[in-house]
Amino acid sequence: MTTPDPTDVHPAWLPPAAYRAVGSRHTLVHGDGPLVDTVFAEVQRACAEHGGTVRRTGDGPPVQLVLALTAHRSAARPDATPTATQSGRTPNAARPGSPETAVRPGWTEAVDPGPLGVNVDAARADLAAAGGGPLGPEGFAVVRPGEVTVVLADDQAGLLYGLFQVVRLGEAAYGPPHPARVHRPAMRRRMLDHWDNVDVHPVMGQVERGYAGGSIFWRAGHPRRDRDRVRAYGRLLAACGVNAVSVNNVNVHATEARLLTDRLDEVAEIADLLRPYGIRVHLSVTFAAPVVLGGLPTADPLDEAVREWWAETTQRVYAHIPDFGGYVVKADSEGQPGPFSYGRDHADGANLLAGPLEPYGGVVHWRAFVYDHRQDWRDRSTDRARAAHDHFAPLDGRFRDNVIVQVKHGPMDFQTREPVSPVIAAMPGTRLAVEFQVTQEYTGQQQHVCYLAPWWSELLRFAPWGDGERTVADVAADGGGLVAVSNVGDDPFWTGHPLAQANLYAFGRLAWDPKLRPEAVLDEWLDLTFAPATSADPALLRRTLHQIMDDSWRSYERYTAPLGVGFMVRPGHHYGPDVDGYEYTPWGTYHFADRDGVGVDRTRATGTGFTGQYPPPWSQTYESLAACPDELLLFFHHVPYDHVLHSGSTVVQHIYDTHFDGVAEVEATCRRWEWLAGLVDPTVHARVTERLAEQLRCAQEWRDQVNAYFHRKSGVPDAHGRPLH
Ligand code: GCU
Repeated sequence: MTTPDPTDVHPAWLPPAAYRAVGSRHTLVHGDGPLVDTVFAEVQRACAEHGGTVRRTGDGPPVQLVLALTAHRSAARPDATPTATQSGRTPNAARPGSPETAVRPGWTEAVDPGPLGVNVDAARADLAAAGGGPLGPEGFAVVRPGEVTVVLADDQAGLLYGLFQVVRLGEAAYGPPHPARVHRPAMRRRMLDHWDNVDVHPVMGQVERGYAGGSIFWRAGHPRRDRDRVRAYGRLLAACGVNAVSVNNVNVHATEARLLTDRLDEVAEIADLLRPYGIRVHLSVTFAAPVVLGGLPTADPLDEAVREWWAETTQRVYAHIPDFGGYVVKADSEGQPGPFSYGRDHADGANLLAGPLEPYGGVVHWRAFVYDHRQDWRDRSTDRARAAHDHFAPLDGRFRDNVIVQVKHGPMDFQTREPVSPVIAAMPGTRLAVEFQVTQEYTGQQQHVCYLAPWWSELLRFAPWGDGERTVADVAADGGGLVAVSNVGDDPFWTGHPLAQANLYAFGRLAWDPKLRPEAVLDEWLDLTFAPATSADPALLRRTLHQIMDDSWRSYERYTAPLGVGFMVRPGHHYGPDVDGYEYTPWGTYHFADRDGVGVDRTRATGTGFTGQYPPPWSQTYESLAACPDELLLFFHHVPYDHVLHSGSTVVQHIYDTHFDGVAEVEATCRRWEWLAGLVDPTVHARVTERLAEQLRCAQEWRDQVNAYFHRKSGVPDAHGRPLH
């Protein structure tokens, strides 16, 4: 196979320089299969660039790197076999059949030493002594028993991930000898959802909430067939650990619905292009498909003809795409059709689609983002934050084993700050996937620098049952894994803002290992993207990019909606400030500011009762005005402006201070970025400079609107006498 090299596209975290250490050495790749071919092609390309050699047999110059399958196996893919039954599963139990528990008897015996000689034998011995096998379908071990670095994997995907680990390590992969270091993904599915449309939608465009140009898959109703671009995307995703992609928007319009039937070839082509990178393709489907595509009078999940239609349709899908991942469904949400029309519930709907997928090892991602978007703002008893739990928690235990209920990380909608969704703690008998948003809909739309890994890391480490108990990451790992909305488009930098590439990279890495520190992930990304060996002052570059990015999410939070209250964005496109933009609308997103105070009372005592959806200790912590963390205060409580925070500041003074601080931080970012002129690619420098100018303008607008708004409401002056307008 040839490796993609779209010359008009930024190489992101896989520039040729990142392969210098691998490409300047002699390497042996041992094993067979399409993903091993990918590994070989990657190393071959690096060698062509940097002067090393790569071969697939034992003859030739002494090697410094061996990448070897432990046995000649065909690719075993996550979920390639139907999952074991979940009935009776306790929250802490790993699922039978998951990579973590799979037992492959006689692992060491299964190793084929082949023609590789002593180094691999030593590595195998080392690994066995450390109790290191089996590695699982995507796991790998890096061993350096002597002068040769050895990557071992049981299956092909593991070898590919092992190669990218060696690329990440650079020269460090060839340092002092070390025992086996075993790597296995925490989440078995690490998935990106594209919100790409086939047709250009009159309001949402080619990519819904896309801030990086058009789709890499479709343009104006037609497949792009830009194979190199899609392959290059697959490479980037594999290098950060993503193994599943849903190709089209969760809002499935008329043309997009047909990807399931007469336009299936377009999906199959994408699957062919991504398969060599260990990525399975999924498809968003409309629940009304039997009606809109099949001509049936109903889509009722309990109707026999409807069941048959899904069975036949799914069979055809697998005839085209044997390793198809499954369906993604947004039902009964924001106008999408669903089982409610037939008096059925979400379990009926999800199980209908799961049945035909099950024999093929496919899954349904059924989204829990369900709420009433036609709420009367005068009705103070309805609380959008409650909706997902109200709809889904009572259905726990009713979903088939291959249904994954996909839960947004917060109860609202990807705001800059929200509590963790209570659904995550409420469905122990259901496989849950947690959904993040890499596309920066509410976090600056890839105009603003906003490195999101610190936010995701906080969320993944959050313990819904209290300190020391299982975390959000544990729930996702035991269930359906981690999913995020992609931020990629046909922009030459992939993500519009070049620094937004770090978010895509970090998502994959945190899905692989949620315990990674965000700063360490940023280091990985920096070292790959801006290869230190090619920079005139790598230390300055690294230090400055950390200063710009490490805290950028918190800076963004400071100059936008305060203390967890959320929204305050312009309705529709969601960019820039509009404090009352959603206050009197049907969307259920309010802040309730008046002359005396601000915030949403979600307590059981006097509010909507949302705090009661959490288990202890959070049900008490959030209920209590005294205990509630400052950063979520206005999400849970309505307080007077002179309420004193744990920080010692009053609410209104905190609003003023953080908004001034946030803008000052953006000003500092702009200055720092100027220092980097000459240290980064001039096209990257120019693009970021242009975006920073817009970020500063927008941050000032946020500061002035929010501060003026609360000054006018409260009449309280700034303690430091700064202008409030
Ligand atoms: C948000 C977003 C929509 C999207 C929806 C979803 O509401 O603004 O564009 O369709 O989330 O997650 O389904």
